Amino acid sequence: MFNKLVETYLPYPELAHLLIYPILVIILASYSLYARHRNHRLKLPVGLFICYFAVMSALKLTEHFDLPSIFGILELVSTIFLTLAIIRFVTFIFVDYLMRYKKLAPIPVISRDIGLVLVYLIAILMVLRYQANVNLTSIITTSAVLTAVIGLALQDTLGNLISGIVLQMEKPYNIGDWVSFDNYVGRVIGMTWKSTRIITREKEMVSIPNNTITKSHILNYTQPDPNHVATLYVGVSYKDPPNDVREVILTTISEHPSVNPFPSPEVRVIKYNDFSVDYEVRFSLSDFENEPKIKSHILNQIWYRFKRRGLTIPFPIRTIHQERFDPEKEAVARDQAMHRALANLKRVDVFDPLSENDLANIARQVRFEQFSAGEIIISEGDAGTSMYVIVRGECEVIIFEGKNKEHIIARLGAGEFFGEMSLLTGEPRTATVRAGKDMICLRIEKEDLEEIMNAHPEVAEAMSVMLAARKEGLTQYKDTLKEAAKLANKKLASQFLTKIKKFFNIT
Ligand code: CMP
Repeated sequence: MFNKLVETYLPYPELAHLLIYPILVIILASYSLYARHRNHRLKLPVGLFICYFAVMSALKLTEHFDLPSIFGILELVSTIFLTLAIIRFVTFIFVDYLMRYKKLAPIPVISRDIGLVLVYLIAILMVLRYQANVNLTSIITTSAVLTAVIGLALQDTLGNLISGIVLQMEKPYNIGDWVSFDNYVGRVIGMTWKSTRIITREKEMVSIPNNTITKSHILNYTQPDPNHVATLYVGVSYKDPPNDVREVILTTISEHPSVNPFPSPEVRVIKYNDFSVDYEVRFSLSDFENEPKIKSHILNQIWYRFKRRGLTIPFPIRTIHQERFDPEKEAVARDQAMHRALANLKRVDVFDPLSENDLANIARQVRFEQFSAGEIIISEGDAGTSMYVIVRGECEVIIFEGKNKEHIIARLGAGEFFGEMSLLTGEPRTATVRAGKDMICLRIEKEDLEEIMNAHPEVAEAMSVMLAARKEGLTQYKDTLKEAAKLANKKLASQFLTKIKKFFNIT
């Protein structure tokens, strides 16, 4: 048909026959060079057409010489090129172009390539069979040596191909997922029958052979949930209370815009190390790509917040503490503690009748104690000979109904005290006291007060008033609970009575 067109429409058909194919080769080769960066999928069909036209140019030349065998071979080769070019072009139109245009889900490269190779093989076998009368199928299937040679030569390639098929079926990752395998972390940008390509955070492209991937552990950070838990480690000085450290870290993390609120961040003490108390910080992130940046930002902020709150990140140096007693230093420290205790004792109303000197005497003997939020300081029913003045924080006074049901009957804060009932009466503790927030207290023992109480009975009086009021409150609460229990019992009894009457048909 092509020949007929040339003969009908072109002058000098002989010359046209000779020149038309080289011209087509030049046109297509120029297009291919010009558009080489545009559509790489079009390269192969265009290349095959160029080969076809090139072979046809040679064929037209041989027509003028008497070379029947070369003519036959060229004719066969040209048919093979034309067939392959058409198959590839049709695939380009339907698979590459139309599917993308219609935004259909792309066919995986491996499946497409395997399909294409099969169609190519069938097409070549058919051309050989019907044009050259060569039956390659029987040769291939009967030649064990050929099979073995091909098998050995393609060992690696086949391994990659099979691994590629396994990965396609199992789908441990998709394009766009953040993964880690074979010591590389990156985002998957492509999967072929030979390898999987990823782009690392450093913007390097790594091609990892498929059979290496199937042999290694695959970590997918995007699936099934793109949120992933990041971990940070912070070492803080021994002198800083863990709850203060936890609070600062948690605030910093929770306020960071890239951190997910759920699951909520966690801060755990993981080790009492040589120089520091070590904390593990865990929080949820969706932006895996920027994880190192976010972590660095958080650590940065933690440094500033620690600085403001007086928390210390210690140097990794070994501090040698020489146990040499320095009486002067010791006296200064004791004096400072006494003044701090005195300032806090002055805030307690019942000690108002006492002079500065009396209070200083008590202050010299008391000690500071720290409690973390949630810690039980006093348990109901225990024996006790000490009371506590709250310096910082807050506590809850609790009575229990049964083993588990608790009732908070009072909350006490800075300047208030608790534990005075057992200290003054010698009776067991009347309630349980639990730290509601982190607390610092002054602990006063019975002996610390003995002398002062003897000298100032008005203090005992003021305390007994307070004690009576508290006892009253406590008794009232306990009575209310008893009443409620009695009522509940009565209600239950009446419910049982109704049931029994119904059961025995008593009217
Ligand atoms: P004590 O009995 O030694 O131990 C429990 C403490 O709880 C008690 O001393 C009081 O200090 C405190 N407490 C008991 N009842 C009340 C109350 N109603 N209000 C405030 N504090 C109380």
